[in-house]
Amino acid sequence: MRNPFLFFVFLQFLLNTISDTMYRTHTCGELNAANIQQTVTLCGWIQKIRHLGGMIFIDLRDRYGITQLAFNHETRPELCAQAEAMGREWVIQVTGQVIERYSKNKNIPTGDIEIDVETLKVLNKSLVPPFTIEDVSDGGDELRMKYRYLDIRRRPVKENLIFRHKLGLEIRKYLSEQGFLEIETPFLVNSTPEGARDFLVPSRMNPGEFYALPQSPQTLKQLLMISGMDRYFQIVRCFRDEDLRADRQPEFTQIDCEMSFIEQEDILQMFEGLVKDIFKKFKNIDIEPIERITWADAMKYYGSDKPDARFGMRFVELNDLLQHKDFKVFNEAELVAGIKVDGCGNYSRKQLDGLVEFVKSPQVGAGGLVYILCNADGTFKSSVDKFYDQADLKAVAERCEAKAGDLILIMSGKAMKTRKQLGTLRLEMGDRLGLRKAGEYKLLWVIDFPLLEWDEETQRFYAMHHPFTAPKPEHESMLESDPGAVNANAYDLVINGSEIGGGSIRIHDQELQKRMFKALNFTEEQAQAQFGFLMNAFQYGAPPHGGIAFGFDRLCAVLSDCDSIRDFIAFPKNNAGRDTMLPAPTPIDPKQLEELYIDIKPIPNGK
Ligand code: AMO
Repeated sequence: MRNPFLFFVFLQFLLNTISDTMYRTHTCGELNAANIQQTVTLCGWIQKIRHLGGMIFIDLRDRYGITQLAFNHETRPELCAQAEAMGREWVIQVTGQVIERYSKNKNIPTGDIEIDVETLKVLNKSLVPPFTIEDVSDGGDELRMKYRYLDIRRRPVKENLIFRHKLGLEIRKYLSEQGFLEIETPFLVNSTPEGARDFLVPSRMNPGEFYALPQSPQTLKQLLMISGMDRYFQIVRCFRDEDLRADRQPEFTQIDCEMSFIEQEDILQMFEGLVKDIFKKFKNIDIEPIERITWADAMKYYGSDKPDARFGMRFVELNDLLQHKDFKVFNEAELVAGIKVDGCGNYSRKQLDGLVEFVKSPQVGAGGLVYILCNADGTFKSSVDKFYDQADLKAVAERCEAKAGDLILIMSGKAMKTRKQLGTLRLEMGDRLGLRKAGEYKLLWVIDFPLLEWDEETQRFYAMHHPFTAPKPEHESMLESDPGAVNANAYDLVINGSEIGGGSIRIHDQELQKRMFKALNFTEEQAQAQFGFLMNAFQYGAPPHGGIAFGFDRLCAVLSDCDSIRDFIAFPKNNAGRDTMLPAPTPIDPKQLEELYIDIKPIPNGK
């Protein structure tokens, strides 16, 4: 190398490379008996310090695992003194020889070895963490969220994020192999009043105007079909300002997909393939062809559009058997329906009262509950013995296919309300009896959703899915005459009672889209103002298309038998929609508001 400058650059590069690799030769999760006698350098956080006779042992942790470090008082007193001064979560670098461990730990991959530390360097000190960084921590939820970066050091949280990464990778691979293209769509979009509330973003450059963060890329993916992209997907953040629950976050991630020149069956087949692939790769489970149930049957038999079908207890309708006596509650009800609970015919009075209390709680909101105990001797004992004789109760037991030793629980009232209440009781019984087993998966396609849903309060129809969902072709003609009876080409994927995905075949015909907006009470001007961009695009050769979106966070949770999607989100919000760590949201500097021409009214007390 003649040019001294080039030589200098090369030298610099070499030095940088060496000093990079100098930090560590291995991670804390990879050393085992095969490495004995090697000299290694490790970096990590101090998980635990133990003093044992003349030795100090430190568990050193990084993302990959834990390796035990050994310090010998006798041979290296200075090192020991240095080690003694350190504390939990300090960041250190050690070099030493891998040696066989005296007492082996079979529970971890590095449990056969330890490092006989020869040099120790403190890379950074740490305050004492506010909770223990262990698999089971002593920190409460709020505290762990406030220090989420420390919480993520804990193995279970870290594992969840690794799982999420691997799942995302597999999904990208699978869909790419099927010809889907991942295309990003904007986050600063327009507000659409249907669906949940939007999160709004003021535009400084356009005073008084706002962007909305997308509730989903629905309209954009439809535009991509008009663009001819044919198969689109995106693992994408969505934003919805709605009340939060264990399975809902204000920002969450969808695996959003759309396809052209397809029918409903093509979509169900394609994504059944994806789901099968995921279950095989991550759970080693061969999924049977996914059972399909109509929305009407799901409501009729489970009182829910997302039934947990891991257990039976399907509803049995009893109007004809129980409306012939003087029991007013049943006689006045639109629906009398019950569930049979196997083996609970010996429930005590206290247990039964507990169930009555449960259905009366605000969570269920029912007026009461009727029970029939099927005694071992073939007789029946019920809470309505005053009104019904043994023959009546026997007829009910037969309809419910109850045997001696079973319990029948009956609710009544307005049909839809009763179904939902009985559905909640069914899930409660499933929980109490341990029938919602972890590690067992029951998948369902719920199909044939109603296109529209009547809202009593505003006295109008709303789209059950969204306004671009196509009616079933054979129902199209009823859109004006009987809108409530029109079913949609819409489908949901339900796993263990959780709605994991939902989609539909879209309207691609402008005229039909106009009729749909009319059914939704939009004037032509309103439709044009809000969705004109899409309706105009339909005029330029929109292909028949449809799609689906899966809740990625929910998919992670259900595959891991967890109820809360927060466990799979690095920095989630709490139930009040707050990130207590950042913190967010916060009041904004008046100057910033001024720039945006935003004037905040005084906030009423209690808000
Ligand atoms: P949908 O509104 O049904 O459909 O949403 C699709 C899936 O996203 C998940 N999901 C959520 N997950 C966590 N927190 C939330 N707040 C939340 N809201 C929804 C659910 C749900 O099944 N554009 C359509 C899809 C389409 O038609 O292709 C849509 O967004 O698992």
